[in-house]
Amino acid sequence: MPQTGLMMRKSFEAIMRTGDAHGHQMVKTLGPVSITSMGIGAIIGAGIFVLTGTAAAKFAGPAIMLSFVLGGVACTFVGLCYSELAAMIPVAGSTYSYTYATLGEIFAWIIGWDLILEYAMGAATVAVGWSGYVTSLLHNFGIAIPGTLAAAPGTVIKLADGTQTTAILNLPAVVIVAALTTLLVLGTRESSRLNNVMVAVKLTVVVAFIALGAGYVNTAHWHPLIPANTGTFGEYGYSGILRGAGVVFFAFIGFDAVSTAAQEARHPQRDMPIGILGSLVICTLLYIAVAAVLTGLVPYTALNVPDPIARGVDVIGLPWFSVLIKFGALTGLTTVILVMLYGQSRIFYTMAYDGLLPQFFNRIHPTYRTPYLSQILIGTVVAVVAALVPIGILGELVSIGTLFAFVLVCGAVIYLRRSDADVFRPFRAPGVPVVPILGILFCLVLMAGLPEDTWLRLVVWLVVGMVIYFGYGIRHSTLRRSGVKGRGR
Ligand code: ALA
Repeated sequence: MPQTGLMMRKSFEAIMRTGDAHGHQMVKTLGPVSITSMGIGAIIGAGIFVLTGTAAAKFAGPAIMLSFVLGGVACTFVGLCYSELAAMIPVAGSTYSYTYATLGEIFAWIIGWDLILEYAMGAATVAVGWSGYVTSLLHNFGIAIPGTLAAAPGTVIKLADGTQTTAILNLPAVVIVAALTTLLVLGTRESSRLNNVMVAVKLTVVVAFIALGAGYVNTAHWHPLIPANTGTFGEYGYSGILRGAGVVFFAFIGFDAVSTAAQEARHPQRDMPIGILGSLVICTLLYIAVAAVLTGLVPYTALNVPDPIARGVDVIGLPWFSVLIKFGALTGLTTVILVMLYGQSRIFYTMAYDGLLPQFFNRIHPTYRTPYLSQILIGTVVAVVAALVPIGILGELVSIGTLFAFVLVCGAVIYLRRSDADVFRPFRAPGVPVVPILGILFCLVLMAGLPEDTWLRLVVWLVVGMVIYFGYGIRHSTLRRSGVKGRGR
């Protein structure tokens, strides 16, 4: 099947070579437990620690539990598709690389560009969540960060004397992004063991919240489970559950990051599906339980705060536990920011290697061996965004961008089963094409629940991406310049 023009695809072999050429002579040390733990490390973050509160208060009420069920079901379908691709093409470039091998260069570019929303904007979102929890933790120790310096410009801040003012910028969010960017430039990598420890802390805190909080639940807070719709789409009622699901979908993002470890897995064919689906199932169950306990502890109307889980703990009335929760949340949020900043620089690295981005993104520091210029640029942009944009807007943008990428991933599985029926698939998603089609439908339904403004931002973002592709990428693409007109097999 000769292919030219926009449909140019990389061969599977070329994709694998690209992975090797990245100089990561990776040691295959990861087993199913480490991979699942890595998934949980990337998944549990601002979604559960922050957005659950916002989404319950503004959109779904106690029915936020059902929003999590909806999000979990959508992600399971997508996770099955991811597992097939991750086992079949075990390289580090994630969705971008799969798409290059399946739907072709232009779709790979669209995905790569779209993934900036997931990774860079995701890092900014979680940094804003981190800011909320650090402010709250320092408060426990008598240190007050002025509210005007810990929120996006324009956020209304109530002062101690009862008057109101507006915030200037979110400084703690800038500080954490700057600190983690510095670590990444210096080459500090999360070792699998350190990650396991951090994940253990995070999981302990979440499980302890569920276990301790369950005894203090006031079931009256769950009635009505689905508050009546206000007359506006998305404000409570069934449409509120949908919008809530679109927002808390953010909490599931990260299971796809497991696929970036494919080259370090001992048995990627077996362990990728276990890692992806295992971490998803564990997180979904925890999320539903946390949502149930939280809305049972605190009336949902009081949950639109930067540290909702800590509010829940206040009801339990154990001050030491409150400090522990905040500490655990900060640990958890830190690992997520680190993974996202790291992931973004590696995706840019691969895109620059393919010529779709300038070589600037490929420049490796002679001593630290990291893509330092790219990492610093990413850190700067993420810090500025985190300083200026509220978490609600950021989270929705990340959700819609990721959902869009997931739609393409499901599409790729269907397409590949036809175009490359003979390629060996160590893991086959069951029920193709029904499962990928359900994945696509669920993602589209969640996208439909998000506000028009968010859709508009996605469209503008994709249009800007197309302008860059036709202005730069198409002329610098390594694949095109090397004169490969077909699939390069
Ligand atoms: N799922 C990750 C979080 O909730 C992105 O922070």
